[in-house]
Amino acid sequence: MPANLTIEQLVDSMTLAEQVTLLSGQDFWSVAPNERLGIGTLRVTDGPNGARGGGSLIGGVKSASFPVGIAIGASWNPALAEEIGAAIGDEVKSKGAHVSLAPTVNIHRTVTNGRNFECYSEDPLLTGALAVGYIKGLQGQGISATIKHFAGNESEIKRTTNSSEIDERSLREIYLVPFEMAVKQGGTWGIMSSYNKLNGTYAAENHWLLTEVLRGDWGYDGIVMSDWFGSRSTAPTVNAGLDLEMPGPTRDRGDKLIAAVEAGDVSADTVRTRALNMLRLMERTGAISDFRAHKEEANDRPEHRALIRRAGAEGTVLLKNSGILPLDKKSGQTIAVIGPNAKVAQIMGGGSAQLNPHYSVSPWQGLVNALGGDTLLSFAEGATNHRFEPLLTGTFKAEYFASRDLSGPVVHTETIDNVQAFLIGPIGGGMVDPAAFSLRISGTFTPQADGVHRAGFFATGPARLLIDGKIVADCWADWTAGQTFFEEGSNEIVGEVSLKAGHAHAVVLEYSAKKSDNLTFTAFQAGIGKPLGMDDIAEAAALATASDIAVLCVGRTGEWDTEGWDLPHILLPGLQNELIEAVAAANPNTIVVLQTGGPIEMPWLNKVSAVFQSWYPGQEAGNTIADILFGDAEPGGRLPQTFPVRWADNPAQSQDPEVYPGLNGEVRYEEGLFIGHKHYDKMGVQPLFPFGFGLSYTSFEWKNLRITPQDDDFVVEIDVINIGPRAGSDVVQVYVEDKSPILPRPLRELKGFAKLHLGAGETGTARVILSPRSFATFDIGSREWIARSGAFTVHAGHTATDLVLQETLHRAGEWRHKP
Ligand code: BGC
Repeated sequence: MPANLTIEQLVDSMTLAEQVTLLSGQDFWSVAPNERLGIGTLRVTDGPNGARGGGSLIGGVKSASFPVGIAIGASWNPALAEEIGAAIGDEVKSKGAHVSLAPTVNIHRTVTNGRNFECYSEDPLLTGALAVGYIKGLQGQGISATIKHFAGNESEIKRTTNSSEIDERSLREIYLVPFEMAVKQGGTWGIMSSYNKLNGTYAAENHWLLTEVLRGDWGYDGIVMSDWFGSRSTAPTVNAGLDLEMPGPTRDRGDKLIAAVEAGDVSADTVRTRALNMLRLMERTGAISDFRAHKEEANDRPEHRALIRRAGAEGTVLLKNSGILPLDKKSGQTIAVIGPNAKVAQIMGGGSAQLNPHYSVSPWQGLVNALGGDTLLSFAEGATNHRFEPLLTGTFKAEYFASRDLSGPVVHTETIDNVQAFLIGPIGGGMVDPAAFSLRISGTFTPQADGVHRAGFFATGPARLLIDGKIVADCWADWTAGQTFFEEGSNEIVGEVSLKAGHAHAVVLEYSAKKSDNLTFTAFQAGIGKPLGMDDIAEAAALATASDIAVLCVGRTGEWDTEGWDLPHILLPGLQNELIEAVAAANPNTIVVLQTGGPIEMPWLNKVSAVFQSWYPGQEAGNTIADILFGDAEPGGRLPQTFPVRWADNPAQSQDPEVYPGLNGEVRYEEGLFIGHKHYDKMGVQPLFPFGFGLSYTSFEWKNLRITPQDDDFVVEIDVINIGPRAGSDVVQVYVEDKSPILPRPLRELKGFAKLHLGAGETGTARVILSPRSFATFDIGSREWIARSGAFTVHAGHTATDLVLQETLHRAGEWRHKP
């Protein structure tokens, strides 16, 4: 950056074209430098559970993989979120970037949103507090956060066209809260607008959202960037308040924006304001004088390993314990380790949050590490839980053709080690047009067992899969978009084929590129697997019978918990429920280790001895799970989302498709404020596990609830005593109940919480400050927050329903505040 110039002077020394250049990407992950004025390049990279770096979603430079959002949500620990944010700041730097596209703070409105794993909670305050911690950690390193997706992106179904119809009070009191806290308390430098429309207008074109609320009401001075290809117009987005169109090269700006200024559709002053916002971000992150060549490094740091392992335990929620946990490492007991997630480490969800981890530790490996060997362990898979047939790996030849139908000469050849790709930018060594080429991938598959196998693929264009020269799965002539690759890929096309153990069968995938409507990329994946059945379950049960203890590693995978689709239900995939029933019947000491990005129905709950939820805890997954099993760490998590008995109990699960998943382009948030535990309170429905639930390996006593007025606030204090034999953590949750609300209001709302880590016998004090806003509702008429005078009961609870201490306070005088 030129010395001695302020960014205001700098923006005024730029031509209109130069200012416009700052308002869109030059490629997928960066904004172009300005050599004339000496302005560097701004680079961004995806989060939130790490920093993937540029390039493709798959197979980039290795990165540290941290726990996913819902696991951090379960930690109820903003200080931990801050530590993670700071560590991810290091990771962003190692990828040569200045901006992290994180955190994700959409609210768990339904239990099926494909991206719930990436978001923190059903609760706006818990979400906001964790986001503030994360942002402070990240920005303390000089790396900008980009809190996303602003706003109303609570489902992945038709996310680029649907309109989220949300009344203003629900927006102000729930969906906007994390963003407001990120601006006012976290000081975020970046925000990403969502793909969807909000009340009929695309978020990226929504002046009310991006200018009136964000900059007017909240005083935001950072930038707003579009989600990838989420800007669809020139003047409307610029005028609404969208600073940066991503990715590049631009579709909507550049010459089109210059023409819009010349035509008077956008004022030169508006362009200046947007460019100034960009320069402010570049100054804050140092990008303004960063001329280094782009370089990415893999830094596998011991301190990151330790933080990830600790954070994994802090987010693990112990749901049931008959007393069997923690296990005694020295007992010599034999353990049958069973289930699809036992030998495959489930460390993260799918979509843009995925990265190439330094390594991943499976539960099996974690147990081997903890026990110093596998002599006490035995293994059975028992059932599968994949959404797609297992990825074909090995050595494959990829031949590219400059035609769409495999005609003409091969123009480029590559060797690949699995049949999976997510290609953006130059394809086929730059020898083909990314929108008009074809590809033949050939190799072999050698089965381990004789018998019928399932072979399938999904792809962003016409494709077919051949085994030993015969077509097994085919959509060459009738490709249609389905629910893979952000709704740009087909559904999986699967066929059955009889294969011979030990024989190398020839496998060929043929693919033809098709131009995408929304996002522009080429992606495909092919796999082959042998289905498991009741015999495999019987084998697993026999192993459980022969062992002292059975540890069942079940759940979902990042194929299910992923961007671009919503879950079809909340049952464990495949035959896992049958597997759990059989193993529990075979061995009374059955422990279920659950890994999912949200709730599941648990019809077997009464039949097992213990259950804990480990979510997707990052690269240390198996070590974290072993730490919890053997009590080397305390399960510090509390549910950030209500777990219903059945799917139908959840708030947006009405019979009306307009409420979910949407009808005729609209999703009506008709339940208003009554989502999460507020819905269960209102309807009198008992959840399976309430919001805030989680057991500990020690016990706590709470006493002396004290509420002291302090200026406009009330200070709530509670003594917490660890009366058990070991160190542990507890979360005091403070819910406020309005005794005579002026507007319809949830029975109780979470207004503060405190997590305490206490040694055996130690006493601590939980302290929560309730400000006037903690008692307020948003009044649409006057557009003010109003806290009435009168009685409010303050409850301190272990969960939203297990309320331990309470006291009623009296607020004197009405408090009104402009938003
Ligand atoms: C996601 C964003 C992500 C972006 C870039 C989009 O599909 O919605 O969260 O940051 O891609 O990968």
